[in-house]
Amino acid sequence: MEIQDSIVLVTGANRGVGQEYVAQLIKTGAAKVYACARNPDSLGATVALDPGRVVPLQLDVTDSGSVEAAAQAAGDVNLLINNAGSLTFGGALEATDAGLATDMAVNNDGLRRMTQAFTPIIEANGGGAVVNMLTLLSFVSAPGFAGYNASKAAAWSMAMSLRAYLRPKGIQIINAFPAGIDTDMLAGVDAPKDSPEAVVRDVLAAVVAGHEDVYPASAADVFDAWRTDQKSVEAAFGEMM
Ligand SMILES: NC(=O)c1ccc[n+]([C@@H]2O[C@H](COP(=O)([O-])OP(=O)(O)OC[C@H]3O[C@@H](n4cnc5c(N)ncnc54)[C@H](OP(=O)(O)O)[C@@H]3O)[C@@H](O)[C@H]2O)c1
Repeated sequence: MEIQDSIVLVTGANRGVGQEYVAQLIKTGAAKVYACARNPDSLGATVALDPGRVVPLQLDVTDSGSVEAAAQAAGDVNLLINNAGSLTFGGALEATDAGLATDMAVNNDGLRRMTQAFTPIIEANGGGAVVNMLTLLSFVSAPGFAGYNASKAAAWSMAMSLRAYLRPKGIQIINAFPAGIDTDMLAGVDAPKDSPEAVVRDVLAAVVAGHEDVYPASAADVFDAWRTDQKSVEAAFGEMM
């Protein structure tokens, strides 16, 4: 689908990759972008990108009432970007019920809840797309992020299940599998990181091209290596404790 004249909703748009989505969507000609955040007061810099086209919206993806209210407020959307994410640090032997539950609630349940709420809206608006911000860790685990890995693997599975139902409705599901990105999420982690600009540029190009799966920026090389020799990549990621 074209970004030009699209009406987009971006979750987690107050900072990081979500804010970069809003910036590039506006530059590429989106007609309107609903910028969502748990705390709408945190959206000042995002709205300032283009106060005429960026509409702030309160949204907590773990709260079904909040999701329902957003769906009521944004009935003209034809592109949903499930960007909000949670990463609780901790290896598999230290993971807590609370940390696991938070990552699962945001990364898997939130993605599913938003997609369910916006499917009838996008369909009624003539079809469109849903972008899911997954990660290479959906299919290769970094042991120090046990809850995150599991929640993003679940989200990938859920997204593939949803895809089969959305395709006949004219809604394409685009799963993005980035490597590390330079945002608050990985602040303090010493690892190679792509810029949010490069990641968002590649994902939006995949939306326009109609590619179902995208490995943006440096993730493309990791994915190629994984396809060639899965066990070697698993072993390399296994060092990330
Ligand atoms: N950074 C990376 O290395 C990396 C790599 C691969 C994939 N990703 C994925 O890319 C996406 C964006 O990541 P990022 O790096 O921009 O992360 P980030 O800087 O940590 O920002 C996370 C965003 O999600 C929002 N959020 C968290 N819980 C929420 C909830 N319950 N309801 C609504 N919004 C919520 C946060 O809002 P608050 O400000 O209210 O906390 C914030 O806007 C995530 O899905 C992440 O998993 C990131």
